[in-house]
Amino acid sequence: MNIDVFTLFPEWFEWFSGQRHVANVLASGSTLACVNPREHTPLGAGQVDDTPFGGGAGMVLRVDVLDSALRARYGVDPVVLRQRRRVVALAPSGRELNDALVDELAAEPELTLLCGRYEGFDERILEHFASDVVSIGRYVLSGGELAAMVLCDAVLRKLPGALGDERSVHEESFSVALGGDPEYPHYTRPAEYRGWRVPDILLSGHHERIAAWRRERSRERGAAAADRREGA
Ligand code: 6GU
Repeated sequence: MNIDVFTLFPEWFEWFSGQRHVANVLASGSTLACVNPREHTPLGAGQVDDTPFGGGAGMVLRVDVLDSALRARYGVDPVVLRQRRRVVALAPSGRELNDALVDELAAEPELTLLCGRYEGFDERILEHFASDVVSIGRYVLSGGELAAMVLCDAVLRKLPGALGDERSVHEESFSVALGGDPEYPHYTRPAEYRGWRVPDILLSGHHERIAAWRRERSRERGAAAADRREGA
């Protein structure tokens, strides 16, 4: 998978790319590149944003600047580009990221991520250049960079070579194998600590009963999470 991140803060991604599971995927043929729209702006003095029409606080990323940056990178009109590859704008107004969307994006050979800053994007960027608008939750971050890293982390760890043990992707929280439920609880040594014992079943060696116990715990957690969402 080749990921391009359009960001005014490319140095943030240097740290991210060095993290072990990210570095492992990158070593097995994936790429994570940053493009700084400031380097492609048609405006003077590296200008990339402007004050909002209609007034209000903050600055808005300009549509002409993103147009130039995307053209410089791909050599096509961004309106056409989004029909050829997923161009994901990170914005709090977007579709909330979940495991199904992560799987969908992980199946793409190429991804483009657009990070807004300040008050965000000129709406025409979302309307005409993005194929998707994605949010990572119902709260506001000061920019799309951390959201892009969350998305990259979730996507890259699904790719071959990311994890030591491929089973861990298959049987993890929210996966199809767990019926979309969160993961069951894990325990390791010591079997007892300060009087807190690991459930006996896990020490029993009965693989089928352990599997049944785990499925049951996953279901319980899924039901509890659903209750929380409904405010029960
Ligand atoms: Cl994608 N961007 C920003 N700025 N804030 C967010 C977000 C994205 N997702 C949740 N909050």
